[in-house]
Amino acid sequence: MSEKAQLHLNGKVYELPTVTGSEGEKAVDISTLRDLTGYITLDDGYGNTGSCSSAITFIDGEKGILRYRGIPIEELAVKSTFVETAYLLIYGKLPTHPEKARFSDLLTENENLHEGMKHHFEGFPPSSHPMAMLSAMINASSCFYPGLMKSPDSESFEVQAARLLSQVRTIAAFSYRKSRGLPFLYPKPAYKYTANFLYMMFSDPYGSYELKPEVVRALDLIFLLHADHEQNCSTSTVRMVASSEANLFASAAAGVCALWGPLHGGANQAVITMLEEIHASGDDGRRFITAAKDKNSGKRLMGFGHRVYKNYDPRAKIIKAASDLLLHTLNREDPLLDIARKLEEAALGDSYFVERKLYPNVDFYSGIMMRAIGIPTEMFTVMFAIGRMPGWIANFKELLDERRKRICRPRQIYIGPTERHYLPPEQRR
Ligand code: ACO
Repeated sequence: MSEKAQLHLNGKVYELPTVTGSEGEKAVDISTLRDLTGYITLDDGYGNTGSCSSAITFIDGEKGILRYRGIPIEELAVKSTFVETAYLLIYGKLPTHPEKARFSDLLTENENLHEGMKHHFEGFPPSSHPMAMLSAMINASSCFYPGLMKSPDSESFEVQAARLLSQVRTIAAFSYRKSRGLPFLYPKPAYKYTANFLYMMFSDPYGSYELKPEVVRALDLIFLLHADHEQNCSTSTVRMVASSEANLFASAAAGVCALWGPLHGGANQAVITMLEEIHASGDDGRRFITAAKDKNSGKRLMGFGHRVYKNYDPRAKIIKAASDLLLHTLNREDPLLDIARKLEEAALGDSYFVERKLYPNVDFYSGIMMRAIGIPTEMFTVMFAIGRMPGWIANFKELLDERRKRICRPRQIYIGPTERHYLPPEQRR
């Protein structure tokens, strides 16, 4: 029998059921609270609110644990690929050989954009941010494939999921080419997922980009490490939109918009901007650390801190080691890496950051790695969006498969004026 929580309110005692997850996480189920008591819960920024039960990703922020479908991120980072991990997240199990081959074929069959979408890109001004193009074009997909408009059943889901996962990469590459005034390159069916993306980004009509295995592997790892992260801002957005029974593409486009902000996926771009500013000012990082601690400075140490991790983000550990290795293999030096290391060392020894449990998150070193790969800064958050797509699709599917579907609709405590009356203009002040 599960424990009951007791709530003492206005001289009465109410019993509320509790729920325990498979890793021992506990929640008080307050779904009957308003009916019973007339009260709702209030939780700024949802810091203490479980919005759903989910079997996809487990995080223990105190211990720095991240697992996709039970498998530690450290194991997947070494043994898996982005596409295999995408399958794991979406379908809940590692694929067998035939399942993997079918998934891979579906990705290849759906990699080309509708030719009409290519012309749609023409309307964007060259200065458009690739994230704006990405969300607009993902959403526009349903105009070109009307079948995408309706919520998928389990059969059509497979194709829709593969189309989205495959085309997000093509749209991302086209967005970049558009922003640089370069001709679009169609995907090559012979290339695997990440190699194909690099080919579409960096090849010329007159010469193919040299696909270095270590670079392909590095970007694949970045995608894999971003593939899901339970109910973060963008994934919650996807679930929120999907709960209205909006289609998969509309839900994912909303996820891209939520991801764009500098407090979420936009942080990887913001980290590099911060490191460049520190470098240009001749600071070794110490002045910036002082500013980041001052609430009036308007500065934060970007790439540090996390709502859930109160310990080192396990993805940051993997990325830090991988970026060291990549720079070494490519025989490259990056002065920004030295500044990042100094900032990290200073912050981890500073009581402000220690007391608030602020550690490097995944974005702190991912930008350094993407710079080494040659990804331009304005595309960093797009890389995050490609990586996060399996997580959004998996969460969409989980919602789709739920027997009891409920629209997400939080309540509020109204603090505006009480009833007052409409005044004619001459009486207004
Ligand atoms: N630099 C300086 N101070 C910080 C930072 C930071 N990066 N992050 C948090 N703090 C401080 C806050 O000012 C606050 O201080 P106070 O208690 O004295 O008021 C305290 O630490 C708690 O911070 P909150 O903003 O309440 O923490 P929250 O959980 O709401 O925010 C967030 C988490 C948004 C990630 C925050 O740490 C942040 O802005 N970090 C920088 C941006 C960033 O790297 N975002 C990427 C997140 S990971 C991802 O999306 C992949």
